[in-house]
Amino acid sequence: MTDPTVLSAQAAAAAGQVNEKRQWQRLMEMARFGHIPNNGVNRAAFSAEDIGARARLLEWADEISLPVRVDDIGNLWLRLPGANDELPPVVTGSHMDSQPLGGRFDGIYGVIAGLEALQAIRETGARHSRPIDVVAWSNEEGGRFSPGAMGSAVFTGAMQLDDCLGVTDSDGIRLSDALQATLDATPDLPRRAFGVPLHAYVEAHIEQGPVLERLGLPVGIVDSVQGSRWFEVTVNGNSAHAGTTPLLDRRDALRAAVNAVSALQALMDDPNDTVRFTVGRLDVTPNSPNTVPERVVFSIDFRHPDHAELTRRGDRIAEIVEASAAPCGVEVMETFTRSPCAFDPALLMRLEAYATALGLPHCSLPSGAFHDAVFVAAHCPTAMVFVPCEGGISHNPAENAKPGDLAAGTRLLTATLLDLANS
Ligand code: HGY
Ligand code: MN
Ligand code: MN
Repeated sequence: MTDPTVLSAQAAAAAGQVNEKRQWQRLMEMARFGHIPNNGVNRAAFSAEDIGARARLLEWADEISLPVRVDDIGNLWLRLPGANDELPPVVTGSHMDSQPLGGRFDGIYGVIAGLEALQAIRETGARHSRPIDVVAWSNEEGGRFSPGAMGSAVFTGAMQLDDCLGVTDSDGIRLSDALQATLDATPDLPRRAFGVPLHAYVEAHIEQGPVLERLGLPVGIVDSVQGSRWFEVTVNGNSAHAGTTPLLDRRDALRAAVNAVSALQALMDDPNDTVRFTVGRLDVTPNSPNTVPERVVFSIDFRHPDHAELTRRGDRIAEIVEASAAPCGVEVMETFTRSPCAFDPALLMRLEAYATALGLPHCSLPSGAFHDAVFVAAHCPTAMVFVPCEGGISHNPAENAKPGDLAAGTRLLTATLLDLANS
């Protein structure tokens, strides 16, 4: 049994084969799919832009003869076959969809890093018994079809596909129709079942925070992810004439929603600045300047690293919304719940040892963002590698990262995947 903290010579060689320029060029090419001003990306799940990016990924896979499969929620699986393809694979990957005002690296870096890792491993002729897969998870962001992380959640059984199909986007398009169009764009791909055993999963991602850049480190080893709870709140009032309706006769849904959000901000007050509470979406009906709003639907994204706090504050949301929105009625629906997640200690040890062996200064750190890895962690030993991004900025067109840091993350990923594939 080899010592899992000793980097093999062939893994070191594969890491050295990582091509920084090739990786950067692929990232810049992917950024064209959904390009928006100021180097941004708007590549919603199952959109034409997503379909285009998927097709480009499959072309690269074809160029290096990586067989590809797809599952019923559109997750793409690229494979570097091993000596024994019956063994559960070592897996890496991330998501290809972006926020509406997204950046060129969130998610897609992990997919391109996985592709680069497989290509570097193949180019060195390294031998490995397990297959190594790169997965492009569907709909991690949840910006178009809420909630997020549907691809990994459905694959691992945390969500059912049927619970996703009826979700509609802001134009009323059903997920099932957008998914079908995406699957129809790659009709020849063989299907893969959900929930198949995986040996281990390591995801590379930009940090989306300031820690690594401030410490001047090229890579970080992610030991945990804070918990997340998403809610959708509907406030029901009555539309009325803005000029004639006295205040006492109004059931003003926007006024009620503003009171509810203010009350929630009091609930989420935290002098330690650990709580993350965001109302990112607010839709008003009929959204006319001279009609008292009849209905408001707003989102809640609440996060905390401590399970007890996530429970304590999160469980009070419904009662506080109800009390503060009177005389309007409210419906509070929890749409996404994920407890804080600790990654696999043995994998973390291996990553730390390999980063040192590869001469990569590093630290361990938690993730404030959730990732597909959070769902995969319930399915197999899982961990993540972060690389710094400029100013910690993400979910913003200004999101930026350095080719050298991105390549350093991919070198660590490559070495880890290869030795895991012989473990
Ligand atoms: O919301 C998140 O944490 C992730 O970036 N989708
Ligand atoms: Mn992401
Ligand atoms: Mn994101």
